[in-house]
Amino acid sequence: MFYKASAPGKVILFGEHAVVYGQPALAVPVMQVHADVQVSDSPRPGIWIEAPDIDLHAELNTLSSDHPLAAVIHNLFFALSIDPFPSLHLNIDSTIPVASGLGSGAAVSVALIRALSTYIGHPLSDERVNDLAFEIEKLHHGTPSGIDNTVITYARPVYFVKGRPLETFKAGEPFFIIIGDTGVAAPTKEAVGDVRKLWMEDKGKWEKVFSKIGEIANQARSTIEKGKTKELGELMDQNHALLQEMAVSSPELDKLIQAARNAGALGAKLSGGGRGGNMIALVTAETKKTVAKSLTEAGATHVIITKVE
Ligand code: PMV
Repeated sequence: MFYKASAPGKVILFGEHAVVYGQPALAVPVMQVHADVQVSDSPRPGIWIEAPDIDLHAELNTLSSDHPLAAVIHNLFFALSIDPFPSLHLNIDSTIPVASGLGSGAAVSVALIRALSTYIGHPLSDERVNDLAFEIEKLHHGTPSGIDNTVITYARPVYFVKGRPLETFKAGEPFFIIIGDTGVAAPTKEAVGDVRKLWMEDKGKWEKVFSKIGEIANQARSTIEKGKTKELGELMDQNHALLQEMAVSSPELDKLIQAARNAGALGAKLSGGGRGGNMIALVTAETKKTVAKSLTEAGATHVIITKVE
């Protein structure tokens, strides 16, 4: 017997960083990339983990307790009062690039929590899965807003405000986003920590910037819902300028963003923690191929075209 669960990647369309300070943000799932976890019984005692993408082949007890995968399993079994642990074999695969703003860590947590809990006969509601995945995000990111685990758990476009119940949104007219990877791994925790330092030095100044970003996110939501997608490009450009002011962009991101705009994208910005990782650009059915090509020529290591509906 075996059980398999998957979770998608995600991109933040608007509002990263400001969302940590209570402003709204918009994020959508990216179904083209996913984390997959398969659980089966193990003939050997213990919990055996195979994660070939990160070259991990180990028994749970040989991992340090703060290892991301060990933390998920320990927290889940503690929450479900499972003791002793059953003997299991876990296979973890992911096509989501790591440390690039596509939510790879949260997607592995969500898929692992779902696969394990269901396999041992305690399937969990999305709300529980989301809460448990958020606990893991906190272990690794310090002060996460919770947006990653939320959009990945529900696999739907999300209008997210920290601490508020889930709100989803629907595009009045579907639109295309291109995601371009700089290939520069950039841990979110550092960028979030640096923004916190700026804020501590001058809260008044930065809270104004955060609330401008929040206004852009609100405007973007209504623009998307009304199907006035073309107007979104300008909002992306404005959001990116504010992220540059917060010093979370990078030369590699700015280069891809400029290349996308030059190739006809309606707007572009960094997505996620910044400093590296991914950028996104708004394109039409007509421009998507040209923009994708220009991103590759400008050095993108990975390009994904995704449709938001
Ligand atoms: O780098 P990512 O995609 O995991 O995004 C982090 C988003 C931030 O707003 C920078 C942090 C957060 O916890 O919301």
